[in-house]
Amino acid sequence: MAYYVTTPIYYVNAAPHLGHAYTTIAADVLARHMRQRGEEVFFLTGTDEHGEPVAQAADAEGVTPQELADRNAERFRALMPILNVSNDYFIRTSDPEHHARVQEILQRVYDAGYVYEGTYEGWYCPRCADFKGEAEMLPGHRCPIHEIELTREAQENWFFALSRFQEPLERLYAERPEWVLPRARANEARAFIASGLQDVSLTRPALRWGVTVPWDPEQVFYVWFDALLNYVTALGFAQPGSDLSETFWPASVQIIGKDILKFHTVYWPALLFAAGLEVPQRMFVHGFLLGGDGRKMSKSLGNVLDPFAVIDRYGTDALRFYLSREVTFGSDGPVSDETVDTRYHAELVNELGNLASRTLAMVDRYRAGRVPAAALDSALAEDLDPLAPRVCELLDGCELSIALDEIWQRVRRLNRYVEERAPWAQAKDPARAGELNTTLATLVEGLRIVAVVLHPYMPAATRSLLDALGERAPEDLALSAARCASSDGGGRLAERALAPLAQLFPRLR
Ligand code: ME8
Ligand code: MG
Repeated sequence: MAYYVTTPIYYVNAAPHLGHAYTTIAADVLARHMRQRGEEVFFLTGTDEHGEPVAQAADAEGVTPQELADRNAERFRALMPILNVSNDYFIRTSDPEHHARVQEILQRVYDAGYVYEGTYEGWYCPRCADFKGEAEMLPGHRCPIHEIELTREAQENWFFALSRFQEPLERLYAERPEWVLPRARANEARAFIASGLQDVSLTRPALRWGVTVPWDPEQVFYVWFDALLNYVTALGFAQPGSDLSETFWPASVQIIGKDILKFHTVYWPALLFAAGLEVPQRMFVHGFLLGGDGRKMSKSLGNVLDPFAVIDRYGTDALRFYLSREVTFGSDGPVSDETVDTRYHAELVNELGNLASRTLAMVDRYRAGRVPAAALDSALAEDLDPLAPRVCELLDGCELSIALDEIWQRVRRLNRYVEERAPWAQAKDPARAGELNTTLATLVEGLRIVAVVLHPYMPAATRSLLDALGERAPEDLALSAARCASSDGGGRLAERALAPLAQLFPRLR
């Protein structure tokens, strides 16, 4: 089956920050998980380079928008390997291939009669590149997101007849109640639609930095329309010589933050309807990462968590783990240096790291480094076998944090098993050799299964772990391998000689 997952494309008027890392890591967890299920995956991320915010930032620095975009797009591109993100393509909207496809699709929308000329007047936020309705604004005509004062603007331009999609959108939400998740976000979108849709500006007359309107070359498209279309245009040129749309459109899941809900759950499906394209199968809207004090992260409040500092101290896997675990995916929640450190030591060092190192050390000490071929503990096997199917079910609904918690319960179960079985006591009594064999075989099998299922969250640490277990072939990573082998002949690794394992998570305090 084909699986297509996307992140928002990020504005190049600012440097990459934790929020960008968050969404991108989440999408990567899904992409890696789906590859382990044997699906054909396409994972897209990239940069949104047009519009006033970029043009203004470039002006302020005295460079051209293209120069600013080139410089900052490179920083986003470089972020991907730093986060160990496995995107299949990185789209930049300044790419001429993207321009040509935007023009082609929006010409089709025009030809279908969904575009007309008119004057728009309203309160405009240059940072959002969006007009704000009366109900959205803060007192004093301020932006609800940026809290800056909005400007009153009147523009002659082309309109997209969003209002004509009121009924189709209502039907979409009624027929597919889970196309936007979590449900509360779908309800927000429905309420917005029910409040009555106004037509929206499709073009900008005064700006040169954008995609030229083919039927009126004095104007460029409003950046949001050009940006939304990236999800479709990229499929047309990501792989030179072939069009991936047949295989991958409609997208399986599009991950966004709640700040861009309206664009993705109202404008985007309407635009797709107008262009005669299918809407994505699912839109998942995650919450905001907040400062440790529960307030919006901001440099002036000094409550910002720097992802690069976390990576320097704890490693990329630790950042990925922390972000997947600390805040339930779909909700808002605070993040801080303190809780990174606490989770790192309590869970990665003391739980997973300790489980791995003591399991391997005991196999080494008691069985000369060779995994015993012994019956597995049936209670443990019964606890481990439902794990992979459960994780699949949860990740189908983008429940990243709940799935990780299911996995973590098994890490804890295995550590308890060590205490319950006390292998050091079993090792002292030659009559208990069979019991010790079962203990060790079960721990190794459990560790292997946990490593396979955890792989999308922590690709590097689980790779080291699986290498030490001698699981180096691609099929060893398949989720279908994440179940206990026959309970009497021993686990999958029976008789396997294990390799040494470097410390997965060094203690830092
Ligand atoms: O909006 N918590 O780009 P952008 C969680 N170019 N996620 C956060 C976050 C936070 N505090 N801050 C940012 C744009 N994000 C447009 C999108 S798509 C066709 C065009 C993440 O650079 C989250 O995914 O402002 C949010 O939706 C996105 O960054 C906004 O990135
Ligand atoms: Mg933003």
